[in-house]
Amino acid sequence: MRNGRARLVLVAGGAGFIGSHLCDALLAQGARVLCVDNFQTGRPENIAHLEREPGFDVIDADIIEPLGAEQLPPRIQLDAIYNLACAASPPHYQADPEHTMLTNVVGTRNLLALAKAHKACFLLASTSEVYGDPDVHPQKESYCGNVNPTGPRACYDEGKRAAEALTFDYRRMARADVRVARIFNTYGPRMRPDDGRVVSNFITQALAGRDITVYGNGEQTRSFCYVEDLVDGLMRLMVHEGDEIGPVNLGNPTELTVNELVTRILALTGSPSRVVTRPLPIDDPRRRRPDITVATQVLGWRPRVSLEEGLKATIAWFAEDERRAKPPASRRAQSAGRGKARPNGAAAAPASIS
Ligand SMILES: NC(=O)c1ccc[n+]([C@@H]2O[C@H](COP(=O)([O-])OP(=O)(O)OC[C@H]3O[C@@H](n4cnc5c(N)ncnc54)[C@H](O)[C@@H]3O)[C@@H](O)[C@H]2O)c1
Repeated sequence: MRNGRARLVLVAGGAGFIGSHLCDALLAQGARVLCVDNFQTGRPENIAHLEREPGFDVIDADIIEPLGAEQLPPRIQLDAIYNLACAASPPHYQADPEHTMLTNVVGTRNLLALAKAHKACFLLASTSEVYGDPDVHPQKESYCGNVNPTGPRACYDEGKRAAEALTFDYRRMARADVRVARIFNTYGPRMRPDDGRVVSNFITQALAGRDITVYGNGEQTRSFCYVEDLVDGLMRLMVHEGDEIGPVNLGNPTELTVNELVTRILALTGSPSRVVTRPLPIDDPRRRRPDITVATQVLGWRPRVSLEEGLKATIAWFAEDERRAKPPASRRAQSAGRGKARPNGAAAAPASIS
């Protein structure tokens, strides 16, 4: 609550994987939520269950353009802005690298200006990719990274680095209240099946009994954080009142090799899939593990959900998603002609929050 009214929070990228879980958690806490998304990688299904929530509204917009007064509900006062808008998986952000760079730089600038105008607190969802292919291990926030500025991942890695720089400049120059979270690999329900990252790839391949594709020799390591834990960390950072505004690493420090992940997923799905190997993509990091000392000491945050528990929930969700995508012939016939998609496939606008 702020001045006796529910907090109004804008979530850019709110129809995406992490953003939709954040919308759920904010609404559950009693906030009103304005989701801004261009549905590039976000799915209308991710927020369809919120359509009838009186405190939830959606704006179909690209953050590269400033949000016009006519797009926002009238007479609103934003209390907080989370910027999660940016495709996060390499095949998606590399499909239009210029748009990815502009989303991170121009889009972040537009949302910072909005935060300043509303005196709202701004949180940037940055990434462990700012560390590139790290030379130090595990990665602390003080490590400046080893990023290739001209490689195919640069639109994302360097875009996020520039977004962090801009966010801190805004704090220094424009006195916007800001926070920066560096998110490490996150997984869970609502990841896209075509996301192209290891967890979603391996689960969809295992469930379909197809070959599991491992890039490189599979001995590269990753640490996977369940989405519920990550959202808890983002929300703690947003409301934290001390001087520590970030960057703060948010991720699960339990490190495992890609081969170990395959073994776990094969065991949990009981899949007969075989493993096949493919060449390692350019600039793929060899090791990734967050040092979460800052998050633990400052925010009292640490991941709670075990890999086993998180994978079970994610596998169950992918199995259900697959079932929904292929309804039986009788249900397909019934639903034909029902419900029209909006442009970009966006969800129909739910009740206004204003
Ligand atoms: N998932 C991870 O493991 C991970 C790791 C590090 C950082 N992050 C960051 O967290 C954020 C969310 O990631 P995610 O995994 O949910 O990805 P996602 O692709 O599911 O979500 C991104 C959302 O932003 C929207 N979007 C993209 N460009 C936009 C634009 N220009 N204007 C408006 N909306 C736009 C997409 O449609 C989508 O709904 C991203 O900023 C990403 O960089 C994610």
